[in-house]
Amino acid sequence: MDKFFLVSFLGLLIVAHGVAGNLVDDNIGVLEEFESWDIEEENEVEVSPIPSWTSERGSKVLVNVDSFGAVGDGVSDDTQAFQKAWEVACSTAKSVLLVPQGRRYLVNATRFKGPCADELVIQIAGTIVAPDEPKNWDPKLPRVWLDFSKLNGTLFQGGGVIDGSGSKWWASSCKKNKSNPCRGAPTALTIDTSSGIKVKGLTIRNSQQMHFVISKCDSVRVSGVLVSAPGDSPNTDGIHITESTNVVLQDCKIGTGDDCVSIVNASSNVKMKRIFCGPGHGVSIGSLGKDNSTGVVTRVVLDTAIFTETANGLRIKTWQGGSGYVRAVRFQNVRMENVSNPIIIDQFYCDSPTVCKNQTSAVNISQIVYKNISGTTKSEKAMKFACSDTVPCSNIVLSNVNLEKKDGTVETYCNSATGSGYGLVHPSADCLSSHDKELIVTNAEVAETGREEIVHTEL
Ligand SMILES: *[C@@H]1O[C@H](CO)[C@@H](O)[C@H](O)[C@H]1NC(C)=O
Ligand SMILES: *[C@@H]1O[C@H](CO)[C@@H](O)[C@H](O)[C@H]1NC(C)=O
Ligand SMILES: *[C@@H]1O[C@H](CO)[C@@H](O)[C@H](O)[C@H]1NC(C)=O
Ligand SMILES: *[C@@H]1O[C@H](CO)[C@@H](O)[C@H](O)[C@H]1NC(C)=O
Ligand SMILES: *[C@@H]1O[C@H](CO)[C@@H](O)[C@H](O)[C@H]1NC(C)=O
Ligand SMILES: *[C@@H]1O[C@H](CO)[C@@H](O)[C@H](O)[C@H]1NC(C)=O
Ligand SMILES: *[C@@H]1O[C@H](CO)[C@@H](O)[C@H](O)[C@H]1NC(C)=O
Ligand SMILES: *[C@@H]1O[C@H](CO)[C@@H](O)[C@H](O)[C@H]1NC(C)=O
Ligand SMILES: *[C@@H]1O[C@H](CO)[C@@H](O)[C@H](O)[C@H]1NC(C)=O
Repeated sequence: MDKFFLVSFLGLLIVAHGVAGNLVDDNIGVLEEFESWDIEEENEVEVSPIPSWTSERGSKVLVNVDSFGAVGDGVSDDTQAFQKAWEVACSTAKSVLLVPQGRRYLVNATRFKGPCADELVIQIAGTIVAPDEPKNWDPKLPRVWLDFSKLNGTLFQGGGVIDGSGSKWWASSCKKNKSNPCRGAPTALTIDTSSGIKVKGLTIRNSQQMHFVISKCDSVRVSGVLVSAPGDSPNTDGIHITESTNVVLQDCKIGTGDDCVSIVNASSNVKMKRIFCGPGHGVSIGSLGKDNSTGVVTRVVLDTAIFTETANGLRIKTWQGGSGYVRAVRFQNVRMENVSNPIIIDQFYCDSPTVCKNQTSAVNISQIVYKNISGTTKSEKAMKFACSDTVPCSNIVLSNVNLEKKDGTVETYCNSATGSGYGLVHPSADCLSSHDKELIVTNAEVAETGREEIVHTEL
């Protein structure tokens, strides 16, 4: 079916090429590359089996935090017990660090450092909860709570909960009250400088700030992770990917007060499949380019997602003055439900108390594909391509986009953006071709040449 789709889609592109006579060849390359890039599904091959410590012939070594003095009453400080258990689990091959079910373990900010012996499993079945008072937070670890680093081939699982107890942190955020100083807050779960990591079936909730950061990692698969925090909790991104490659997120349900997923500098080959987002600020690439920095993000795919009542849907955000690029991004099979900015590229992103000046330098955005995106928008401007005058966005491809507004009309906003549309594109994105009218093949134009049938039967 997919192959058929590819063939017919390319067929249409070639037809469109014939019609417009001036199609940017790059588009075909981008689509071809993406269509052939797919991940194997987690459920098909179980690489790391459920730890066999429950079975008689189990070869796993069980390291239970309770055996190291953890109390699990939600009140006693279990930090030391966790640290001791970590030392043993990390240094023992095939061990399972167990956080038992049905209890709440109060744990302070802690670094869990590798490298560890092979085949470590971190089995979080119970709840790990953070102390809730920002004033007592360890000043030496202001930005982390549970921080794992230098791991290789580690599996995190167990169906348990990581709870940041963030409400006092949110209240003391400068986003909530302008008289508060703008300090950062801890990330609930960090996995840093690691490779071959799997995280499955965990809940991360009410983080102090970001919920789950994947930083400087290669080869990470996250599946069945649930993130939840109130829609008005500040800066509580769901899953944040930075300086990481070959990351797969699948079957994740994220409701939070900031981006459901954010992908920033030096990240590439990120694939997201079956993502549910809302409340939240959508799936974002960026922000990039803050304080004149260089930001590069390439090869990102989001396939199958539902956005419900989010502030944005598919967003790329960059600051004026940055450099670098965002290239080769594909968003497809996405449903929007009452989303404020379903499709948005914002090269004028400015999340600072002072006004950001327009600058000539910008992060260059090109080869961005939106395919089969439908649903409802809250704002009139269902699609916004707000690009820099000096570094325009290019090769934006829209294919079968249909966004409607209840009781109202919809439109596309463009500034300095070029690209093309195929199949139904609603609202019309003619403004993408303002520099070269020939590039857009609208339904009407296709119909004029008698190709309407191709559009409707094959797309
Ligand atoms: C956590 O660490 C802080 C600072 O070191 C300390 O004051 C506090 O008692 C520790 N335990 C808990 C449960 O907050
Ligand atoms: C991780 O472990 C695998 C298999 O044990 C090994 O081949 C690989 O080199 C390791 N990677 C790193 C970064 O240590
Ligand atoms: C904002 O913070 C200031 C200083 O901490 C405090 O006096 C004020 O009551 C806070 N305002 C709100 C609305 O919470
Ligand atoms: C972006 O990533 C590159 C490559 O890792 C690094 O050199 C650069 O400092 C990063 N920029 C920022 C703003 O972190
Ligand atoms: C960024 O570059 C612009 C133009 O060169 C300069 O005016 C501005 O001060 C720089 N900003 C920072 C944070 O370095
Ligand atoms: C388009 O996306 C929707 C999800 O929003 C999906 O149900 C549908 O099957 C997709 N259509 C095609 C042709 O892939
Ligand atoms: C969309 O959101 C608006 C404002 O938040 C709300 O009034 C409206 O009922 C919502 N529409 C739907 C269809 O959910
Ligand atoms: C920056 O440039 C954009 C696009 O030309 C324009 O819409 C906007 O008003 C400018 N902003 C400022 C602060 O000059
Ligand atoms: C932005 O990237 C595109 C595609 O690689 C390239 O054609 C264009 O020249 C770049 N723009 C600038 C201002 O560098």
